[in-house]
Amino acid sequence: MEPCDSDLPRINALRSPWIKESRVMKLRQLFKNEFLTLLTQGDTHEALFEREIHGHAPEPPLPEEARQHLERWHMPEQGFRNYWYPVMLSRQLKKRPVKRRLLGEDIAFWRDGGKVNAIADRCPHRGASISRGHIRFPGSGTITCPYHGWTYDGTGQLRACIQEGPHSVMPSKVKTKAYPVEERLNVIWVWIGDMEAVPIEEDLPVAMKIPGVANLIHFTKVWNNNWSLLFDNFIDGLHAPYLHRLSPQFLLRKLAFRALDGRPHFQFVEHDGKLLECAHTRGAQRPEARQGLVFEMEYPGVGKFPHNEWWRFRGPKMRPKENFLPGIPPGSFVHGLPSYVHTVHKDLYFTQFIIPVDRYHLYNMCALTGHLDGMRKLAWRLYYNIFSVTHDRIFIGQDTRVLRYSTFGPERLSPLDQDVIYWRKFAVRNARGYMKSQKSKGNEMNFPDESAEFNTLREVF
Ligand code: FES
Ligand SMILES: [Fe+2]
Repeated sequence: MEPCDSDLPRINALRSPWIKESRVMKLRQLFKNEFLTLLTQGDTHEALFEREIHGHAPEPPLPEEARQHLERWHMPEQGFRNYWYPVMLSRQLKKRPVKRRLLGEDIAFWRDGGKVNAIADRCPHRGASISRGHIRFPGSGTITCPYHGWTYDGTGQLRACIQEGPHSVMPSKVKTKAYPVEERLNVIWVWIGDMEAVPIEEDLPVAMKIPGVANLIHFTKVWNNNWSLLFDNFIDGLHAPYLHRLSPQFLLRKLAFRALDGRPHFQFVEHDGKLLECAHTRGAQRPEARQGLVFEMEYPGVGKFPHNEWWRFRGPKMRPKENFLPGIPPGSFVHGLPSYVHTVHKDLYFTQFIIPVDRYHLYNMCALTGHLDGMRKLAWRLYYNIFSVTHDRIFIGQDTRVLRYSTFGPERLSPLDQDVIYWRKFAVRNARGYMKSQKSKGNEMNFPDESAEFNTLREVF
């Protein structure tokens, strides 16, 4: 039955509390989506493990669309194996053992006599978590399982069964998986892979290992993202003025976009199949590049953007960048395998290194690196204490909050996505031992040919 005029007051009376409620809902949503996630974003590793029962997360396997997407691009579900990954700051491993999960493998780390050891976290006896155990025999380099006291050394060899006495036959029979582990740059690194470990120097991020540079380093909390979504984001240079428009870096600056000509955002140079150098095609770091910038565009039938609100009184960043990486021009970003990026921050490099935890989680090692001495080093160290919090929560936090709620599956790629595609292909082709291991499984490793599609789309520019 249609409502008649006499029903209107009654309908309005019904509607107004609804309107109020909807405002409350909106506020609640805003609080939940923005402020609360901003404050509480990310878990500690301990909180992640706490939610599990018998070492199993409540998360299901990746959905079919996600698996198909990763298969199409030959990307691994939880990161490239056969690399050294950073785990934690050296000072974070003290007297108590620590558990970390990397690329789906649970590992117990402990330090004894100054030396760091790493073995599989599952006790081969009856499955207890070894990292919940103790350094019961300091100086012996061993760790003791909390359940029956089986005691292992850093090679994974069982050395003693406490409840069976010194004549137990078990120690000679039991050995668990041990992981190559090293300390460099005040960080603990672990080799995750099936091949023999390469010398760790090969895998340290290039800017961070230059002799004489200072590294200010921290690790983020655990984010609820599949690693590959963040991997794509590293090279997605065009999202910054939009997604990060309210970050401290962009808040007071006029937002500038580049009118497109259909070319990729970056020019790529590959260095030994290990590094991908990305230079802005339009010389974005040179002062004259300002000419190509558009501060306001009219989108037919939609409106103008950027809005360039009144408080944006500063121009876009145009200062020429400095660089201390040999063979890399100033201003170029550098992407490295298995999954890190160096972006230029004044005369320093900012590093973000993805550490995949499992199919649904990752954490990052972040660093500022440069030639810092004396007072300058002290000033940057103080600044870094603030930066490491605000950058995690506000800047890269904006990325993770988008990715946290993204789903992955079929994609409609535009010409600008050529950068992302290049990075995916570069990684798959060059990741250590990856092509070989995939081909041995019968995977032909043919990539989708999207060039025809990009060419058609480019014609409209
Ligand atoms: S489960 Fe580890 S000693 Fe029994
Ligand atoms: Fe971003």
